[in-house]
Amino acid sequence: MSEKNLIVGLDVGTTKVCTIVGVQHSPTDIEIIGIGTHPSHGLKKGSVVNIDKTVRSIQNSVEEAKLMAGVNISSATIGVAGSHIYSFNSSGVVAVRDKEITQEDVDRVLEAAKAVVIPSDREIIHVIPQEFRVDNTQGIKNPIGMCGVRLEVHVHIVTGSISLIQNLAKCVEQTGIKPEHITLQPIASSEAVLSVEEKEMGIILVDIGGGTTDLAIWKDGSLIHSQIIPVGGNHFTNDLAVALKIPHAEAERVKINHGSVLSEKLNQSAHITVQGLSGTEPREVQLSVIAQVLGARAEELFDIIKEVIADKNLSDEITGGVVLTGGGALIKGLSEMGEYLLERPTKIGYPVPFGGMTNIMQNPKFSTVLGLLLENGKRSNTVYTDNNNHNNNQMDLIGRLGDSLRSVFKEIF
Ligand SMILES: Nc1ncnc2c1ncn2[C@@H]1O[C@H](COP(=O)(O)OP(=O)(O)OP(=O)(O)O)[C@@H](O)[C@H]1O
Ligand SMILES: [Mg+2]
Repeated sequence: MSEKNLIVGLDVGTTKVCTIVGVQHSPTDIEIIGIGTHPSHGLKKGSVVNIDKTVRSIQNSVEEAKLMAGVNISSATIGVAGSHIYSFNSSGVVAVRDKEITQEDVDRVLEAAKAVVIPSDREIIHVIPQEFRVDNTQGIKNPIGMCGVRLEVHVHIVTGSISLIQNLAKCVEQTGIKPEHITLQPIASSEAVLSVEEKEMGIILVDIGGGTTDLAIWKDGSLIHSQIIPVGGNHFTNDLAVALKIPHAEAERVKINHGSVLSEKLNQSAHITVQGLSGTEPREVQLSVIAQVLGARAEELFDIIKEVIADKNLSDEITGGVVLTGGGALIKGLSEMGEYLLERPTKIGYPVPFGGMTNIMQNPKFSTVLGLLLENGKRSNTVYTDNNNHNNNQMDLIGRLGDSLRSVFKEIF
């Protein structure tokens, strides 16, 4: 098999590391040939806190995927999240050089939009154009070839801590994989879960992972806000462990098998037996008590999301509603509660299926990695051109991300 057609997504999450290898037959025809998923150790709230443990988790996941696919992997698109991510909107203006707008004018205006002061310990991960304005005409998606004298762009800029991104990249590199592109995780999840129409109408993607909940808010086909909230599925589990005085592993089992966030919908006399902390006897616990604990945390999470919508004045933009994805979205009753508290249609977002995909992958916890695979496919030309002349395996993150302007532009239009 030609390496040219191979595409790889690598999601280093707080609870699991997942690698997917695909073959791209055509831009729209992707076949999955290898999957490797392994419990993640070494991350907290989306950031690497233990390099050795993270490297081992990545290694195990990559080996499993390679074995299943029967191919070698040298590069991947990886996802980044964590509380260090900060994003904002910006704009830039330039004079058009020769009446007719060219790629060069677009590059210059994107550079101008990027020229904002950011702290020296942060770097730009994405510069995503929202709209161009040529003279007095607004809402232009692709201005190349248009006539005008003044070109303006509005962009969404995502930044992250240089050292935390480098830690993640370093862990991936130590397993022999070149982190070719770095993508914000909720952007990847959106790619796998949302339709073009949903992004046009205005929608919030809420990816509830283990350590964080990642938001991506779309309108008119563009990303208008992104944010990482440091509350994820693990907090639900911890709450149960503390409230019921049971071990963490037992709390996780109870949450997955018997958890719900709507206690009033349950039969109030229904109960289950839980294992106590070591040395204590198993006990019976009412399902409604479990739901009260999980419901309180879910309410807190939805309140934070509500505050984000209010703070950023996004209420009128989100006409399409809310899509919950990530493993944490699977707790029973979460979408009903979201619909009630956020006062918007709310559903669980499953990744769009494609070739070779097994039923196992049709799970919200794989949204990010499948999105990373799709991103890798979109940029595969860049990937393999770069591969041809990469003697230098040391990543030049800043330089490489400088190129991202052009690839992001290509990606969107
Ligand atoms: N069936 C289920 N019901 C309830 N919760 C679930 C279920 N399956 C997984 N989870 C929860 O989903 C969370 C993990 O989600 P996911 O795999 O998306 O996280 P991650 O990508 O590893 O983490 P992060 O994105 O925060 O780095 C865990 O808290 C887990 O308990
Ligand atoms: Mg995740």
